[in-house]
Amino acid sequence: MKPFIADHPLIQHKLTYVRNKDTGSKEFRELISEIAMLLLYEATRDLPLQEVQVETPLTTATTKVLAGRKLAFVPILRAGIGMVDGVLNLVPAAKVGHIGLYRDPVTHEPVEYYCKLPADISEREVIVLDPMLATGGSAVDAIRLVKEKGAQNIRFMCIIAAPEGLEALTKAHPDVKVYCAALDEYLNENKYIVPGLGDAGDRIFGTK
Ligand code: PRP
Ligand code: URA
Repeated sequence: MKPFIADHPLIQHKLTYVRNKDTGSKEFRELISEIAMLLLYEATRDLPLQEVQVETPLTTATTKVLAGRKLAFVPILRAGIGMVDGVLNLVPAAKVGHIGLYRDPVTHEPVEYYCKLPADISEREVIVLDPMLATGGSAVDAIRLVKEKGAQNIRFMCIIAAPEGLEALTKAHPDVKVYCAALDEYLNENKYIVPGLGDAGDRIFGTK
């Protein structure tokens, strides 16, 4: 499935500030949250609707409401947490699951340490959240875990993707539509995205 790469001016503008190494944690967190909200607007563009009737003060109007499956957001710990506030602003009734993964500093392979998902995940439209799609290892594993718990309709949302990560994710999970605020150039020798924004978890939580 072809990934969605955002070109919205508001997203481009905010990305400039998240990339800037002089942006502090408070502003960085706010920007990540705002970009996640704007990206969710695109990621929910094709949700099905059904017609309903509503009494306005003047007459009966035929209008639309969301139909079908409800949403679940699944941030990948830690950095995915930074996107949760933003998406819940748009869909406050969504459920939230958590998957804990960290990249081994030597092998860069993801190591799982936590998984807690809504019991009815198989009936929900699931959106997995992580600001960074680098090698793709973390996203591929997180989506595998969500599928093992029964989820069938899954999207993945990130702030910055590397071409390597997009390729790995699309190959492992061709059924999952990917939404990115930006597609960057390449991974460096430490598997960091270039130009990127550095270590998303450290910048969100002020560690390091
Ligand atoms: C970062 C990021 C992703 C992962 C991406 O997390 O938030 O989860 O790296 O890299 P990948 O595509 O090569 O798997 P990290 O492992 O640094 O953990 P943290 O969020 O706890 O800091
Ligand atoms: N994880 C991050 O936080 N940043 C990168 O560039 C790659 C992985």
